[in-house]
Amino acid sequence: MDFNGKRILLGVTGGIAAYKAAELARRLIGCGARVKVVMTRSAQEFVGPLTFAALTGEKVATAMFGPDSDPLEHVALGQEVDAIVVAPATANFIGKVAGGIGDDLLTTIMLAATRPVLICPAMNAEMWANPVVQGNLARLKGRGLLVMEPAAGSLACGAVGLGRLPEADLIVEAAARLLCVPDLAGRQVLVTAGPTHEDFDPVRFLTNRSSGKQGYALAKVAWRRGADVTLVSGPTNLPAPYGVKCVAVRSARDMQAMVKAHFPEVDVLLMAAAVGDYRPTQVEVRKIKRAHEEMAFHLTANPDILKQVAAMKSGQIVVGFAAETHDLEAEARRKMREKHLDLIVANDVNRPDSGFQVDTNEVTLIPRVGDAVPLPLLSKEEVAAKILDQVVALLESRDGDHAKDA
Ligand code: CTP
Repeated sequence: MDFNGKRILLGVTGGIAAYKAAELARRLIGCGARVKVVMTRSAQEFVGPLTFAALTGEKVATAMFGPDSDPLEHVALGQEVDAIVVAPATANFIGKVAGGIGDDLLTTIMLAATRPVLICPAMNAEMWANPVVQGNLARLKGRGLLVMEPAAGSLACGAVGLGRLPEADLIVEAAARLLCVPDLAGRQVLVTAGPTHEDFDPVRFLTNRSSGKQGYALAKVAWRRGADVTLVSGPTNLPAPYGVKCVAVRSARDMQAMVKAHFPEVDVLLMAAAVGDYRPTQVEVRKIKRAHEEMAFHLTANPDILKQVAAMKSGQIVVGFAAETHDLEAEARRKMREKHLDLIVANDVNRPDSGFQVDTNEVTLIPRVGDAVPLPLLSKEEVAAKILDQVVALLESRDGDHAKDA
């Protein structure tokens, strides 16, 4: 992730998790952001401003009044930065922002802020469950602020429950949504990823080498760019991307059911999963025993999910993927025609640094209309961004056509 010199105001309020904000400041800076910290008085009871000043290289703002304070800072700060992240956000701070109270520098900045805001609550589990706190959070969400769910685990008070500040990496991931151009805002995007598992018996299955990385990168980047994303994933070892609704499936037929259920509601389908083309004709209920020197299995073709749903298209942009070992472009074009796709992403899986398992990919984007666009070797997130650029253009031209028809 590259925040590319963007300016983030990091508000720190008075909870025990305030010390974790120091790590968060480091991560944000590590991603290329410039961070200005504003601390409430109670935050300073938990951690000193000097820590943040040393980490960020910027003076920490702590008070509205006093010899060192700028009289207009409370207005300027929330408007000059690119985004505001408050971590940890206490129940008291959330209540004040919900109620429009500005009785210190940070809450006053929030009143005057014009930039996108991420609130990362952290508190005791009972406080979190309190309907007043939940009501206040609902008001903040209603005003368009992005609110993270706290993590579950053991809390500073000794209890176990919901209330921990989410891990810094997750907060950085959520903050990325504030900093990206929201060119997919309001769009429903369905992504499939990973391999499928087709059972022979209770312990053995037929699968392929897909890791799911390209599909997960697509889901992540689409969410950052403002989309509502559903990820239908076969079995992988990857963590669920933040903000994305994840649906876990196992076999091609499970995936088919989920894709068919979601497809009518979406604007875009990105079918990155490596769907198994065949499944064992017979699934044994009991483990198959070693009994012979040779064994033969019958396989039955799985449904072609993409082909089936593309035939039900009512304005959706449908993107397919073609992993090939030879005749890359010709094969990809054939699949695009046969499966009625708007765009196909072709990759040569012979290369060790591209395709399955690895973090990089070299693909060619082939639109239905127009020339193929060969891309250099890129990270899977960069590839995702290029694919989504094309999807945005296709959505815009679809919307333009609808407007003309109306
Ligand atoms: N696909 C699908 N259902 C299947 C097989 C593939 O939806 N049963 C989708 C994949 O997710 C991918 C595209 O179709 O987006 C092309 O997949 P690929 O396996 O390359 O194509 P196949 O049509 O199976 O052709 P082949 O395996 O013979 O190359």
